[in-house]
Amino acid sequence: MSTNPRLNFPQGMLAGRIAIITGAAQGIGAETAVILSREGCKVVIADIDAGKAEKTAQAINSEGGAAISVVGDITKNEDISNLVQKAVEFGDGKLHIIINNAGYAWDDPIEKIQDQQWNTIISLHNTAPFKLIREAAPYFMVKDGEPRSIVNVSSTSGIYGNAGQASYALAKAGLVGLTKTVAQEWGPEYGVRANTVAFGAIKTRLTQAPSGEYAVRPDGTKHAVGFKGGYDEEEKWVGDIPLRRIGTPTDAGLAILAMVSPLFSYVTGQVTGGKGGM
Ligand SMILES: NC(=O)c1ccc[n+]([C@@H]2O[C@H](COP(=O)([O-])OP(=O)(O)OC[C@H]3O[C@@H](n4cnc5c(N)ncnc54)[C@H](O)[C@@H]3O)[C@@H](O)[C@H]2O)c1
Repeated sequence: MSTNPRLNFPQGMLAGRIAIITGAAQGIGAETAVILSREGCKVVIADIDAGKAEKTAQAINSEGGAAISVVGDITKNEDISNLVQKAVEFGDGKLHIIINNAGYAWDDPIEKIQDQQWNTIISLHNTAPFKLIREAAPYFMVKDGEPRSIVNVSSTSGIYGNAGQASYALAKAGLVGLTKTVAQEWGPEYGVRANTVAFGAIKTRLTQAPSGEYAVRPDGTKHAVGFKGGYDEEEKWVGDIPLRRIGTPTDAGLAILAMVSPLFSYVTGQVTGGKGGM
């Protein structure tokens, strides 16, 4: 007979935990925040978009969850330290989960990519997650017996490459190495788990036809997101996907929940595919 305890019904699998989710104002990050919160986790909505971040936090609080929004640019040192400080205050001195999710692509063929384009994407997807993990080190390198875990959000571009996405593919591949290193450095003594999820096609504003939405670059300029012929034209894309459908932010958030939950208590250093198949 298993000695495994019940997975904490009805308090939720993440009761008593506190999570930072970057890029949680909308899309995959926002849905992940809602899903974690429904499992009892306190969530910190970290995003550069103040209006949407606050709206997401309010929606979680109004359904009985516990959320705060912390507005900032994840590529800026001072915003990273402010984020960790606010999260730890909200978590009564503790921090258990980081989801490095903020991001977008700035695509071009190799011969056209400018230095600024390259540096922005590497800084957003690699340097920022590293710096956030480093800033949070004092709250992860602890021995209080509580589970801690990190999920880095990668992409199938980082696993297989993708024409037109050299910077994004390199950066998303880099997250795999960072994740495995965290697993090796903080696993043995502190029991910290770290995993990567490499999503394929998830329908968000980044992957549908442009609708006037933009991401804000570190220099404050606007970067239009979305692409014509995107995942809103679902039938064009699903032929290669074994589940024959585009994923939703809910599909993505549930995969992330699984990774930070006790269901994955002995899974670390892994790359999980979130692409509806091989
Ligand atoms: N949508 C997909 O098909 C897909 C597939 C694979 C991987 N991903 C990855 O998933 C993550 C989330 O993407 P999404 O589709 O939900 O996009 P989204 O645009 O809906 O959400 C991304 C969020 O990140 C925030 N953000 C961007 N730059 C930031 C910065 N410098 N500081 C703080 N916040 C910042 C944005 O404001 C936005 O709220 C990204 O890392 C993306 O690369 C998405």
